[in-house]
Amino acid sequence: MPSSSPRSPDVLVLGGGIIGLSAAWRAARRGLTATVVDPDPGRGATHAAAGMLAPVSEVTYTEEPLLRLGLASLALWPAFAAELSADSGHNLDYRTDGTLDVAFGADDMAALDDLSVFLDKLGLPFDRLTGRECRRMEPMLAPSVRGGLLARGDAWVDPRRAAAALLAALDRHGVPVLRRRAAEVLPGEGVRLSGGDVLTASRTVIACGAWSGSLPGLPPGVAPPVRPVKGQIMRLRDPSRLLTHTVRGTVHGSSVYLVPRGDGEVVLGATQEEMGFDTRVTAGGLWELLRDARELVPGVTELEVADTVAGLRPGTPDNLPLIGPTAVPGLHMATGHHRGGVLLAPLTADLLFGDGDKGLALACSPRRFKEDA
Ligand code: GLY
Repeated sequence: MPSSSPRSPDVLVLGGGIIGLSAAWRAARRGLTATVVDPDPGRGATHAAAGMLAPVSEVTYTEEPLLRLGLASLALWPAFAAELSADSGHNLDYRTDGTLDVAFGADDMAALDDLSVFLDKLGLPFDRLTGRECRRMEPMLAPSVRGGLLARGDAWVDPRRAAAALLAALDRHGVPVLRRRAAEVLPGEGVRLSGGDVLTASRTVIACGAWSGSLPGLPPGVAPPVRPVKGQIMRLRDPSRLLTHTVRGTVHGSSVYLVPRGDGEVVLGATQEEMGFDTRVTAGGLWELLRDARELVPGVTELEVADTVAGLRPGTPDNLPLIGPTAVPGLHMATGHHRGGVLLAPLTADLLFGDGDKGLALACSPRRFKEDA
């Protein structure tokens, strides 16, 4: 096990969400010393995320680079999940049963036709289903569901379990996770923590999600252009296991999904709101979620509410993440994953510390927003 002072590791990761923790874990597995800094690891966007590993359902057809990233990372998930489970001894609730996209009207059915053509072109496995076949698969679906598409390659994971597993694995690798706040980035050197301690590293990775752009000390032009995109979710107790697949559909023009957990909960998600750094759970947000989810699965309103959470996705101007070196030597980004942080965690770790694909690395370069980069 590599050992060094937590004050001067090879790699310093600011941010302990699924991205920062995965990066530190990968660094440690590559024999580097690492330290993570986060006052409350795993409790930001990761805590609110549903954990869908569904690259095709999550993008529009015009977002080809994002789709390529998602598919590349989806392909890494089986090994990532297996290694992380083995390294931590934790069960991630990683499931590969696919996403069932359902349609109610002629427009939705046409959208599923387009999706089938697209999946066919990509060579991805899917089944087109009638309404009756959808209900045979998921008996609690509304009678008004007219048809569906099962994206068989999609998977999902419980992000809270993944974060707990990463923390356990980091502990096993001797990687300290300092429950401290980063007061100031010292570009090219490291960070000054609240309270004044300074940590130095040859490589500092900024993985603070929606907060990455507002860290004090980042030089202008290097601070990433991320903005918070609020998502509210609701977790419901479902002891009778209403659902066995991730189910999603478009209701009142917005996308709604239900993701079942192995522990008998269902996650309903998610709002998408441009509200700044606002993490309040609102009555209106929850009402919209329930109103839309009930169209898909009427029985959800009978379930007990276990939890409600709002998280902030780190959005970027082109919806692509920022991963890799900045113009400041030693300062790297791993942020801007917007709706895809959980899906893109293995790929991000690879691009930072592995043999990531050069074309994908270029698409994610943090320097792409600077004309003189
Ligand atoms: N990836 C789903 C969401 O951000 O709501």
